[in-house]
Amino acid sequence: MANYQAPRGTYDCSYEDAFRMEEIVDLLKSLARVYGYAPIYTPTFESTALFARSAGEDSDIVTKEMYNFTDKSGRDMCLRPEFTAGVMRAIVTEKLYATRDLPLKLYYFGSAFRYERPQAGRYREFRQFGIENVGVSSPYSDAETVLFGYHALELLGFSNVVLKINSIGDKESRDLYRSALREFFTDKIDGMCEDCRRRLELNPLRILDCKVKEDRAIISGAPKMGDYLNEKSKKYFQSVLSILDEEGIDYQVDPSLVRGLDYYSHTVFEFHCIGDSGANLGAICGGGHYDHLLEDVGGPELSSVGLAFGIERLNLLKENDDRLSELDVYAISMNEENTGEVFSLVQNLRLNGFRAEMTFGKKSLSSALKVALRKKARFALIVGEEEIQKDTVQVKNLSTHAQEEVNIGEIVDYLDREIGKEQEE
Ligand code: HAM
Repeated sequence: MANYQAPRGTYDCSYEDAFRMEEIVDLLKSLARVYGYAPIYTPTFESTALFARSAGEDSDIVTKEMYNFTDKSGRDMCLRPEFTAGVMRAIVTEKLYATRDLPLKLYYFGSAFRYERPQAGRYREFRQFGIENVGVSSPYSDAETVLFGYHALELLGFSNVVLKINSIGDKESRDLYRSALREFFTDKIDGMCEDCRRRLELNPLRILDCKVKEDRAIISGAPKMGDYLNEKSKKYFQSVLSILDEEGIDYQVDPSLVRGLDYYSHTVFEFHCIGDSGANLGAICGGGHYDHLLEDVGGPELSSVGLAFGIERLNLLKENDDRLSELDVYAISMNEENTGEVFSLVQNLRLNGFRAEMTFGKKSLSSALKVALRKKARFALIVGEEEIQKDTVQVKNLSTHAQEEVNIGEIVDYLDREIGKEQEE
């Protein structure tokens, strides 16, 4: 017999894990709407050139991590390693910049693919939820994007979130910084890894991403971006920080934060969080401001800012959260002859918006109640011969164990009231 496994770096997700994931994504989507974002769907695969151009020909993502393939007509395609470039391509293809009011505010959710070494919180297929605010260059847009990230993590119940923020300035500042890095690394580069050696000429900024331990020690002494920002870039960054101060947001300015994608300028940021178990999964969200990406993919020159959450990382950090209930109501028919009445009752509850399920077949009350508990139902509705005669049901609250007899005609109001009470607590 063949023994099929999920491909390395991928995973199967169902029940509690998948419910939690859906809850996270639902919350992010509704918060995005609160901030005025509209949904966008883009293809899972695009031309390789789109990402090579935007993420940076010399970034790890492009040189090592892309899932490229040649399609049956000989086109060079790849699975998207991120969404931002695809969203920009869609804005140009659909001419959204000309037909909709600016800024375009778009959110998305779906799979991204990177051929990375699998480890905790790092997969080869993973999900991102992201937002892009396209068409306005303002410290307020950058700050609003950071605030969105903060707000979302707060609503998701994350404490001990650390926001790392930095400015990589405008092009002029970065050119100056690149020269300083070149100068700093020139007499050290022979002892560094092959990637660093190649990057010295192509883009010394990417040396700062190197993960080789011995190289990290050298990199820690490198010049810092903050010392090379021109006045305009400094002023812009200060404005972003003062808006965050104004809104009472804590942050750490991290001069070594440059991000692994080439398209950024000015503000870059990441959110980190240590889980209850002490697990550090790296950044749970990353983003920043970018000025030339839309133009690079054939559109007008418009500044933008965005971020993306790693959904698996959020999900792993919430692994111990067992508050999730699969059902509001689990209805138990005490004898098979009453299946029809219980079926109608359950369907009526569903039509009234309750998540409801029922027993089928012969089951003892105790084993049916165990099923209800395993499904984390809030209430069990128990229907026996006596209840059918009286047009009532026994309603058992599965957390308090309190039981009451309720008239069938009043069950919807009763559950509404009780669930409302629970949510207030
Ligand atoms: P990124 O930092 O490459 O940014 O990815 C965003 C988030 O995706 C990361 O913070 C992390 O949580 C998650 N992530 C990345 N790689 C993996 C992986 N292999 N397995 C699991 N999770 C992962 C971007 O992708 C930018 N497009 C964000 C952005 C939007 N910038 C501006 N707009």
